[in-house]
Amino acid sequence: MNLPVELISATAIQARVQAMGQEIGAKVPAGPMTVVGVLRGAFIFMADLVRTIDRPVTCDFLGVRSYGDATVSSGVVEIKGDLAAPIENRHVLLVEDIVDTGLTLKYLLDLLAARGPASLSTCALLSKPSRRRIQVAVDYTGFEVPDEFVVGYGLDAGQLYRNLPYIGILSGAIAT
Ligand code: IMP
Ligand code: MG
Repeated sequence: MNLPVELISATAIQARVQAMGQEIGAKVPAGPMTVVGVLRGAFIFMADLVRTIDRPVTCDFLGVRSYGDATVSSGVVEIKGDLAAPIENRHVLLVEDIVDTGLTLKYLLDLLAARGPASLSTCALLSKPSRRRIQVAVDYTGFEVPDEFVVGYGLDAGQLYRNLPYIGILSGAIAT
């Protein structure tokens, strides 16, 4: 398999994540805050992001499977692991690696909204706006990317490439 072609460098990612963390820290109202990462794709982004948020936060995770190991959206969201703690009356920031069709984010937003958070906002490192199938608000977006299958910095293809420090385009992937 070829090495993915660099689309966003590690340096550019770090600069953008830093700016996003400062914006989030300034905009999320005062009070208890929980950052919820969507596993597994968001784990690296979230690790870097929370270190740029200069206020007390708790970290929690949702295990989700929306694609299987295919690169084509099944449109089916399966919860593989729920939050460890309640989010009632907390300011919740949902952290995704990438918003593609928007189906996963919409599903998770509805799930969390029903649990009575004080506020609920969404953050994604990447967004593919041309692929949206459902309207969903992404409050903080790192980068908009073209309609290509991207990997690295947490994003995988068949569970590989998550450890790449940059975002790359996987040539030969089926991007539908
Ligand atoms: P959506 O429900 O179509 O918005 O898909 C969301 C999920 O699909 C993301 O959280 C990713 O895990 C995965 N995904 C979508 N596009 C890509 C991509 O280009 N590379 C890797 N994973 C992707
Ligand atoms: Mg994901």
